[in-house]
Amino acid sequence: MGIYGKITREKKMILSIESSCDDSSISVTEVKSKKLLFYKKISQEREHSEFGGVVPELASRLHAVALPKILEETKEFFPKLRAVAVTNGPGLGVTLMEGVEMAKTVSAMLDIPIIAINHLKAHIYSLFIEKETIFPILVLLISGGHTMIVKVESLNSMQILASTMDDSIGESFDKCAKMMDLDYPGGPQIEKLAVLGDENRFNFPVPLSNSPLLAFSLSGLKNAIRVKIEELGGADNLSYKDRCDISASFQKAITAHLLQKSKKIMSAQNIKDFAIVGGAAANQSIRDTFASLCDKLNIKQHFVELKYCSDNSAMVGRIAIDYFLDNQIMDHKSISTLISKKRQNGEL
Ligand code: KG4
Ligand code: ZN
Repeated sequence: MGIYGKITREKKMILSIESSCDDSSISVTEVKSKKLLFYKKISQEREHSEFGGVVPELASRLHAVALPKILEETKEFFPKLRAVAVTNGPGLGVTLMEGVEMAKTVSAMLDIPIIAINHLKAHIYSLFIEKETIFPILVLLISGGHTMIVKVESLNSMQILASTMDDSIGESFDKCAKMMDLDYPGGPQIEKLAVLGDENRFNFPVPLSNSPLLAFSLSGLKNAIRVKIEELGGADNLSYKDRCDISASFQKAITAHLLQKSKKIMSAQNIKDFAIVGGAAANQSIRDTFASLCDKLNIKQHFVELKYCSDNSAMVGRIAIDYFLDNQIMDHKSISTLISKKRQNGEL
C-alpha cells in the first residue's frame, strides 16, 4: 500500500488539466499504453476576439465555467485514476489557478497525487502523444508566449540554445493582424491571407540577418509593418490586396528569420531529429520551409498533429506519464507551496 491509498491494478490512468491561457482542456491517458482515452478542449478565441487579444480575467471566468463541465464528462474514469496532472506555468496567473485549484480538489477527493507540468515542456511532448519519445531532438518552440530552440535529451535534460529578445512569433502574428484590423488570433488569419498575397511587394527586414547572435527578435519587424500601414494611409484605408500582400511579405520575413537562426544551430548540433511545436507550428508555410531545410541537412523532421499545436491537455497527459513513471509527483499541499514560491519570484 502506497501513501495514496490502495494501488489497485485498475488505477492506471492520469487525468490532465490545461488552463494556461485561453483553452480549457481535460484529458485522460492510460499510463502503460500511452493511449488518449478522453480528450476535450473548449477554446475561448471567439470571446477574446472582440478585444483583439486574451483578457486574463475574462479567460479565468470562462475557465471556471468550462473546466467543471468537461470534468463532469470524465467521471466514469475517476475510480481508475492514479494521478492528476496540471499545467502550473508559464502562463497567465489567473487562468493557471483555475486548473490548479481543480487539480487540488481532484487530488484531495480521490486521494491521488498531483503532477505539476511545465507548459513549455508539455508543448515539446505534443510530439509524442500516443507515441514513444524520440531523443535527442532539436525543437523549435513557437507559441503565443515563447520562441526558442531547445535541445531535448530526455525528460529531465532540456537546454535552451536560443530564445527571443522581445516578442514571440505568435505574438508578432497577433500584433501584425491587429494592426490590419484582423481578428484574434492573428496567426491563422495572416496565414490565410498570405496564400493570396504577393510576398515580394514589401521588402520587410529579416531580423538580425547581419548579426552573429543566435537569438530571435521580432520588434523591428513589427515596427516596419506599423510604418508601412501608416504609409498606406492606416488600417482603415487598406485594401484586401494590401492586407494579403502585407501578410505574405511579413510571413516571408518571419520564416526567413526562423530559418536563418535555426539552420546555424541545426548544423552545429549534429542532431538528426528536428521538430517545430507550439501554436505557430500549425503554419503550413513555416512547416514546408523547414521540411526543405531538413531534407538538405539530412535531418528527419517530426510533425505535431495540427490539432495538438495550440494549447491542449493531450500533451499535458503525455508528459505526465513520463513524470509519473519517474516518480515526480507531489501532494496537493506541496503544489500550493510551489505556486506561492512562483508568485514570490514573479513567475505568475
Ligand atoms: O501554443 P499556443 O496555443 O499558446 C501559447 O502557449 O502561447 O499558441 C498560440 C499562438 C497565437 O499567437 C496564434 O496566433 C499562433 O499561435 N498561431 C499561429 C497559427 N495558428 C496559431 N501563428 C502562425 N500561423 C498559424 N497558422
Ligand atoms: Zn502554449
